Amino acid sequence: MSLDLSQKIYVAGHRGMVGSAIVRELTRKGYENIITRTHAELELTSQSSVAKFLATEKPDQIYMAAARVGGIYANNTYPAQFIYENLMVEANIIHHAFENSIKKILFLGSSCIYPKLVLQPMAEEALLTGKLELTNEPYAIAKIAGIKLCESYNRQYGRSHGIDYRSVMPTNLYGPGDNYHPENSHVIPALIRRFHEAKVNSNPEVIIWGSGGPRREFLYVEDMAKASIFVMNLESEKYNSCTEPMQSHLNVGVGEDVTIGELAKTVADIVGYSGRIVFDKSKPDGPPRKLMNSSRLNSLGWHPKTKFKDGIALAYADFKKNVLP
Ligand SMILES: NC(=O)c1ccc[n+]([C@@H]2O[C@H](COP(=O)([O-])OP(=O)(O)OC[C@H]3O[C@@H](n4cnc5c(N)ncnc54)[C@H](OP(=O)(O)O)[C@@H]3O)[C@@H](O)[C@H]2O)c1
Repeated sequence: MSLDLSQKIYVAGHRGMVGSAIVRELTRKGYENIITRTHAELELTSQSSVAKFLATEKPDQIYMAAARVGGIYANNTYPAQFIYENLMVEANIIHHAFENSIKKILFLGSSCIYPKLVLQPMAEEALLTGKLELTNEPYAIAKIAGIKLCESYNRQYGRSHGIDYRSVMPTNLYGPGDNYHPENSHVIPALIRRFHEAKVNSNPEVIIWGSGGPRREFLYVEDMAKASIFVMNLESEKYNSCTEPMQSHLNVGVGEDVTIGELAKTVADIVGYSGRIVFDKSKPDGPPRKLMNSSRLNSLGWHPKTKFKDGIALAYADFKKNVLP
């Protein structure tokens, strides 16, 4: 695949974990014309601001890594903001990209927008086949709308206007730029912080909710950035050979999962915590397994590079360098 490094690329959400990884990878590849705007500089829920920005800048490609994201607490507490802001950001960018003849968009979905009860590993065709997880339903509806916006613009204007708007469905991500908030972070950053603090304070044990048995999949964010650039630039025949006009997203995962117990042990080892790990089985476990089927993307030639333990070590190094005071 040959890349045109002179293309003008807009990365929406470049200060977030995924957006910043995409900017780093584009820079590493040698792209010379990457444009970004902070949230303060460009409010993506504002239609007039997005219209003006895209009409002025007219990038060749847009990576859509801007979204309101959060854990169960945030989704439950701010459902109106989760559905409204995500719908607005997507509708504004996709519509005004079309209005300005911007041919390529990569939209980021999420594995958590697949139905709650679905055959594992989850394949692309599972989307919209069942009820969603209630805690993040508003977010999932908005994200599904983003994928459907891309598909609908392709179906109506793809041939006449040459637009090609694609979507990827990342599994759980972790790595530099992650959110380490004590109450509102995903499992890997939460464990990194807890084991680090337990080590520093010489705590004899760390208690983890649930049995430790559920299996989950984790992808290092730099690999996600590479996958995003890969899918954005894939030849149309190849992308079309693995997708349908109304089922256009591609899963991005590692194809392997680990138990929460194995994850906790790995994080403890890397952090250097030698106390006991105690599983509180009175607390809920959640679904026994969540794993993506990424065979379509694999068949197109993309595979993750970062080994799980190496990724955790890199994430811990980033935590020590950029998060600790
Ligand atoms: N993290 C994961 O494990 C994961 C897994 C699967 C899919 N994804 C997807 O990947 C994408 C990026 O996730 P992330 O983890 O990188 O999120 P993140 O770290 O929270 O970054 C999101 C970025 O979007 C910006 N943003 C949000 N609303 C905006 C608005 N209205 N106008 C302008 N900028 C806005 C945020 O800026 P402010 O912070 O200033 O608001 C932030 O820089 C999302 O679509 C998410 O669904 C993430």
